[in-house]
Amino acid sequence: MALISPSILAADFANLERDVRNISENGGKWVHVDVMDGIFVPNISIGIPVVAALRKVTDLVLDVHLMIDRPIRYVEQFVKAGADYLTIHIEADQPQNTLEALDKIHALGCKAGIVLKPKTPAEAAIPYLEKCDMILVMTVEPGFGGQSFMADQMPKVRQLREWMDKVNPACHIEVDGGVDANTCAICKESGADVLVAGSAYYKAADRAAFVKLVED
Ligand code: DX5
Ligand code: ZN
Repeated sequence: MALISPSILAADFANLERDVRNISENGGKWVHVDVMDGIFVPNISIGIPVVAALRKVTDLVLDVHLMIDRPIRYVEQFVKAGADYLTIHIEADQPQNTLEALDKIHALGCKAGIVLKPKTPAEAAIPYLEKCDMILVMTVEPGFGGQSFMADQMPKVRQLREWMDKVNPACHIEVDGGVDANTCAICKESGADVLVAGSAYYKAADRAAFVKLVED
């Protein structure tokens, strides 16, 4: 059983409340919030006040993906703003700070996870496995919605699922980027159980049917 986490990067930012409520109306349980700083990735999106504003209007699980440099500086503010899951890129800081950030997120009562860019090997996740409630495998280069799915990331998903089954079986494996009605199948076969979909969700003619297809 998989879960869809629709990404509001593909929503209408002038109608975020409507577009987030729409996820619940179509049977979704999570919402994926992409935070970009223009430094770690070449794009700027939204930040802490938007997470806080969303928290006021939805009970969906707020799955916040930080694409920011040295995320330890901001984790407390994102948790206090209402994140349920906070994921940080392991490429964005020194390992010691990443470990400390994961502990800090947990100490604040939030679920924590790491994110791997496409060129980052599965082995790079090893120091963090026991501290993760979720591992996010990027299936596009982070920074923009609407890119093509990278099927070559599936062995990484399999490898991480295999390791996590041994050390931390409750950990979610999430995929993000280019997930649609076609590519969702191979993600689930490879062991992903949380699937982010931005463009494919908001462009779907029948969003409820798309949620069912992804979660099936
Ligand atoms: C990309 C973001 C994704 C993005 C996915 O940097 O992390 O979450 O919204 O968009 P789609 O589903 O359109 O590839
Ligand atoms: Zn994302």
